[in-house]
Amino acid sequence: MWLMTRIFLLVGFLAALIIGCDACACTTTTHTPVLVHQFPNGTWAENIIGLANGSVYTTLFNTPELILLDPIQSNPDPITAANIATKTGLLGVAQPRNDIITVIAGSFTSTAPSTTSAINGSYAILVFTIDVETPSIPPVLRAKYPIPQAGFLDGLTALPLDPHHVLAGDSLKGVIWRINIDTGAVDCPISDPLLKQVSGSSTPGVNGLHASPTDPYLYFTNSAMAIFGRVLISSSGSQLASAETVVAASGDNAYDDFAISPDGHWAFLCNTPPDAISLVDIWSTAFPTTATIVAGGNGDTNFDHPVGATFGRGPEHSQLFISTAGAIEGLGGKTGGQVFKIDVKDLLGETSCRI
Ligand SMILES: *[C@@H]1O[C@H](CO)[C@@H](O)[C@H](O)[C@H]1NC(C)=O
Ligand SMILES: *[C@@H]1O[C@H](CO)[C@@H](O)[C@H](O)[C@H]1NC(C)=O
Ligand SMILES: *[C@@H]1O[C@H](CO)[C@@H](O)[C@H](O)[C@H]1NC(C)=O
Repeated sequence: MWLMTRIFLLVGFLAALIIGCDACACTTTTHTPVLVHQFPNGTWAENIIGLANGSVYTTLFNTPELILLDPIQSNPDPITAANIATKTGLLGVAQPRNDIITVIAGSFTSTAPSTTSAINGSYAILVFTIDVETPSIPPVLRAKYPIPQAGFLDGLTALPLDPHHVLAGDSLKGVIWRINIDTGAVDCPISDPLLKQVSGSSTPGVNGLHASPTDPYLYFTNSAMAIFGRVLISSSGSQLASAETVVAASGDNAYDDFAISPDGHWAFLCNTPPDAISLVDIWSTAFPTTATIVAGGNGDTNFDHPVGATFGRGPEHSQLFISTAGAIEGLGGKTGGQVFKIDVKDLLGETSCRI
């Protein structure tokens, strides 16, 4: 199946070479983040997901709210789609089926997520039914599965070939949990040294987490180790080999969440510091490979701590959406969290506008 997808993409590429196509042209040379929404001071926009109708959901960490934004409108009003008052914040969000979104909820003793502020045993996976064709129907919370064995759940991903499970990264215990979204059954299919915390550090270990849409790999970042890595998995998310490093960040860079392009070829990573988006060719033939900054990172303090990434869908396809934490105590910044979109059309596909 994955091989077929690659062959299919290759055929498409060769056809494009022969007949020529507009999409192959390099149209954008700068990738300026365009502000979709500025939240008030003190708001942390943690994670983000694009829906088939072009809207995006973002989770707030400082308060347990799921916010809907319709970026097709200019200056869209944020709509509170859910508020989970029994927890202090929401984290990873994933969409295992067209009519289902899943969200991590948990409680923290401080305003920043760290392995020392995470409250042991407070985590749950929320399962919401959504209807992208009937905007008037708000999400309905249909299940709330406690995960008491988790230390600090952060990233969440769907599996492209398994609509019944999601995988959640545990930044404290350095493992991946698998949750059956229909029954709430939980097991631990992945445990690896590259997912662990660094001893003595309160920086999360495994952080962002996304299964490739086309290839049998689960990609992840480990913020404490400052790496972007991957692990070979089965279609239902079981580990099939040891994890490997795809990119090791340089200097004091650390990676947070990221998005994989719909063709499976490119990863766009949030780097904070230095408040930038980095691009990685995940079909590179040799690992570790390198990352190239394609947006932010130029001292623009308005793009304030990018921490969540997703591709827009439907009318917003080829837009990369980014959620930001805003000002973080001890790390600087000057505003509340934000949602941006960045047109990355010229960075997708096989042709190279990547400098
Ligand atoms: C967290 O809670 C579990 C029980 O849910 C307990 O076994 C474990 O020791 C606790 N860990 C810490 C660090 O308190
Ligand atoms: C997309 O679907 C969501 C979920 O039902 C809905 O809340 C939102 O209003 C829809 N957006 C548009 C542009 O129709
Ligand atoms: C938000 O915080 C910044 C920096 O502390 C401050 O300059 C700004 O006035 C604040 N905005 C509001 C609306 O309070």
